[in-house]
Amino acid sequence: MKRGIIILDFGSQYTQLIARRIRELGVYSEIYPYSMDINSLRELEPYGIILSGGPSSVLDEGAPLVMPELFEAGVPILGVCYGMQIMAKLLGGIVERSAHREYGKSVLNLVKPSPLFENVKDGSVIWMSHGDSVIKIPDGFQITGKTFEGFITSIENLSRRFFAVQFHPEVAHSIEGRKIISNFIFNICRSSVNWNMQDFVSNQIKLLQEKCWGKKIVIGVSGGVDSTTLAVLARKAMGDNVKSIFVNNGLLRLNEHEEVLKNLRDKLGLNVEYSDASEIFLKNLKGIESPEEKRKIVGKTFIDVFYKSLKDFDFLLQGTLYPDVIESNPVKGPSQTIKTHHNRVPEVLKLEKEGKIIEPFRFLFKDEVREVARILHIPDDILGRHPFPGPGLAVRILGDVTREKLEILRKADDIFINELKKSSWYDKTWQAFAVFLPVRSVGVMGDERAYGHVIALRAIESFDGMTANWSHLPYEVLDEAANKIIRQIREVNRVVFDITSKPPATIEWE
Ligand code: XMP
Repeated sequence: MKRGIIILDFGSQYTQLIARRIRELGVYSEIYPYSMDINSLRELEPYGIILSGGPSSVLDEGAPLVMPELFEAGVPILGVCYGMQIMAKLLGGIVERSAHREYGKSVLNLVKPSPLFENVKDGSVIWMSHGDSVIKIPDGFQITGKTFEGFITSIENLSRRFFAVQFHPEVAHSIEGRKIISNFIFNICRSSVNWNMQDFVSNQIKLLQEKCWGKKIVIGVSGGVDSTTLAVLARKAMGDNVKSIFVNNGLLRLNEHEEVLKNLRDKLGLNVEYSDASEIFLKNLKGIESPEEKRKIVGKTFIDVFYKSLKDFDFLLQGTLYPDVIESNPVKGPSQTIKTHHNRVPEVLKLEKEGKIIEPFRFLFKDEVREVARILHIPDDILGRHPFPGPGLAVRILGDVTREKLEILRKADDIFINELKKSSWYDKTWQAFAVFLPVRSVGVMGDERAYGHVIALRAIESFDGMTANWSHLPYEVLDEAANKIIRQIREVNRVVFDITSKPPATIEWE
């Protein structure tokens, strides 16, 4: 692997953000579980090590710690939040539970010049989130920053190149955070700039050619950004030896399979095999009401259909991303939620053992894949498509999935999306869609009393889907969409708009 900055993960929700920030600055960075052994770490020859934040308290028995040998490795170390408390505790300082929890905005008062804070303004806003504080620093350390209330926010041992901050420089709310991370990786660790997506693309093309030239390659595509980008990259490397397989699960939006095929075949010139498995999916979903059960059935049916369609091939390319790799790491760090990703099912593991799986994006974050897509000239209208869940409309029909409900929902969704496009709101929303509710309500249509279906509309703004605010769509747009839905879909007599954010709600209704 490339030399880089290694992040040891103690379970903070922001751990991946640290790696992203470092890569944005052009230096390679990888995340490993905190329990990684010291010899494997030494072999990576990191420029520097970052101890991430985490939800634990170093004062609790069994709290995750690093081996003390880490501090003898001669490598610069930055502790972030919980990482600062570990550093303080293991090197002889004292950590105490604070009387009041430091959470949210605070201010960094610099009390001593430090290479970590070069060109950082005194008094800048920082983002704290922890219940414990360092009250006595270890020997050989000095305090470099405090809050207004006098809490220690940063410490350093210059000669050993150990630094620690009680706040999160990786989150956007820490105004000078980027500069602080940049100071650590360049001024202190002396890292070389070694990461950019243009090089990544050239290297991957070379690697694919070396490994797969003249062999038969298959890729499962969905029309989404990851698989489309992967297919374009592979075609660029290997030309016509690449076959993409697109499975229609019958849970797609109106005209979606035609649109995806048009994009992939006509606009991008890919060689796509189309497999219509709608009947099998609908048969397997018949009468199933539980959302979890529906998800499981869609996942299992996809695997059955897709792996049966793989006949004559040497390598299967998968668009697995770095967050999935971190989450499926066999050495579990605390932040690794245990989930079986569909790229990690037994069929894949068997192919992996046979050396038939290649995952060119396994070290990339989502926004890096978008960057690759731009380098490969994938058009904006394909790149700008709203995310769509793998289980498709099955999670947007509450209750059992039937052909009739799918048809109603497809029409409603299409009307809503067209209104958003017409009013230029499509690109301003991160995701928007219609939901089929499992209730009927009374209405009057013409002179008749009607007992019709209810459609909910949802539109949200988000950065990464982790949190979201509902979009404040103009009344006129909502009015037009609702009127058209009622007028054009006989079975629907009521339309509602969802005004909850995430949290507490999720984006999908399930
Ligand atoms: P929630 O509903 O959890 O959704 O707030 C967050 C984002 O994830 C998408 N989503 C999925 N995407 N497979 C996917 O590929 C899934 O099973 C799945 N479930 C939710 C959802 O559309 C939203 O963008």
